[in-house]
Amino acid sequence: MSEFTIRPATADDIPSIEELCLESNDIHYGYNAAVYLSAAETNKPEHTDEEYTQIFTGPDAKMFVAEVNKKIIGLADCKIYREGTFLRYPFAKLNNLVVTASMQSRGHGTKLIQTFHDWARSQGVTEYRLDVDVYNSRAKALYDRLGYQVFTHEMRVDLSNNPHT
Ligand SMILES: CC(C)(COP(=O)(O)OP(=O)(O)OC[C@H]1O[C@@H](n2cnc3c(N)ncnc32)[C@H](O)[C@@H]1OP(=O)(O)O)[C@@H](O)C(=O)NCCC(=O)NCCS
Repeated sequence: MSEFTIRPATADDIPSIEELCLESNDIHYGYNAAVYLSAAETNKPEHTDEEYTQIFTGPDAKMFVAEVNKKIIGLADCKIYREGTFLRYPFAKLNNLVVTASMQSRGHGTKLIQTFHDWARSQGVTEYRLDVDVYNSRAKALYDRLGYQVFTHEMRVDLSNNPHT
């Protein structure tokens, strides 16, 4: 039987984390090649060394990795935002969620989100947030099921298509 675990990431996990992020980049490239870089075009790591240090030492950032038989198959990249001139209370944000393609649809993504929620609550936070690409209907359906509701729309003008704007 396969052994599934979720644990906080460590520096030793960085190569696996970067690999998963590239896999996710390629999926987003598929949604919108005009905006996102493909894995082949990506030329910077997901996080700088300084950001990784913050993620591994906390307290307001955390990465969880999911393992099957000790192999990393997913991640949840989480952060708490406390500062803001017109922020009524701090919120926790799921900045990245990835489960490798061959391990999807088995509930691992849901468990990673629940781990994010538990961590956020343990830090005294009362609101969870995340961004999802408008084309990512499968992830949106998952977030809907878990109670997420749209509260903002990020909008853009692409000047290469609208040169007179
Ligand atoms: C979004 C993502 C993280 C979801 O991960 P996942 O592990 O597939 O998520 P879950 O398995 O918990 O839920 C997804 C589906 O599995 C189903 N499921 C959950 N538990 C299950 C189980 N035990 N057995 C079978 N199916 C199950 C769910 O009903 C859901 O159904 P769907 O196929 O209609 O969506 C994953 O698809 C992914 O990494 N995508 C690429 C990157 C990405 O888009 N990330 C989100 C950025 S906002």
